[in-house]
Amino acid sequence: MRRYLVAGNWKMHKNLEEAKELASSISNLSSSFPNNTDVLICVPAPLIEACVNSCDNGVWVGAQNCHFKTEGAFTGEVSVSMLKSVGATHCIVGHSERRQIFGETDQNIAMKVAALITGGLTPIFCCGEQLPERQNGKHFEVVMQQLEIGLFGLSDDQFSKVIIAYEPVWAIGTGETATPEQAQEIHAFIRQEISKKFGEGIASQTQLLYGGSCKPDNAVELFACPDVDGGLIGGAALRSESFVQIIKAAG
Ligand code: PGA
Repeated sequence: MRRYLVAGNWKMHKNLEEAKELASSISNLSSSFPNNTDVLICVPAPLIEACVNSCDNGVWVGAQNCHFKTEGAFTGEVSVSMLKSVGATHCIVGHSERRQIFGETDQNIAMKVAALITGGLTPIFCCGEQLPERQNGKHFEVVMQQLEIGLFGLSDDQFSKVIIAYEPVWAIGTGETATPEQAQEIHAFIRQEISKKFGEGIASQTQLLYGGSCKPDNAVELFACPDVDGGLIGGAALRSESFVQIIKAAG
């Protein structure tokens, strides 16, 4: 049985004091989280350690990006082992904002995924189409290419350590959400392609999250879809009330 994962993506929000306050207010409610649901907050790198210290065992803390090299002359970058050393357990990779604003390519992203697995962090690999691609019926093709280059070069053992987040770009931060039918259709497609590549056993274990304007009022129906195993939550993860309501929607 797959577990649910509800992961917050704080993006570039919160200073130290605000981060400690939000992390501890989420963590203080961990006894109310459903038993079948894991909870993660992905926070800006300088805030990871403080958030780890503010959270009990009921909440994991992750990062939002990393470099693919172990160390070196890469001004401004952060390595996987640095993230690990401050207590991160997971790292988002290939978020559409990184692809679009910072020019990350599928090849770059594949290297980051490999570095995370080697370094012992769980990658949360993001994929998803832009609005014109959906309007032209190209969403399956676009997601397939992202999966092929980003993930399908991994071994079975490596792939089994990956979490995937399907995030249609047109739904991120827009207030527009994929309908449960749209989410289920593409999640089922992703699981089927994983099954073709890595086999039924691995496909049935892979956690597939939905992201894109997931809120307390739509989380229940999205999480009820058979191939949706939780969510990657942006805006609604910045307040503990709405984030915890979404966590409870998984139960
Ligand atoms: P959103 O962001 O929930 O604010 O749409 C989701 C994400 O970008 O991961």
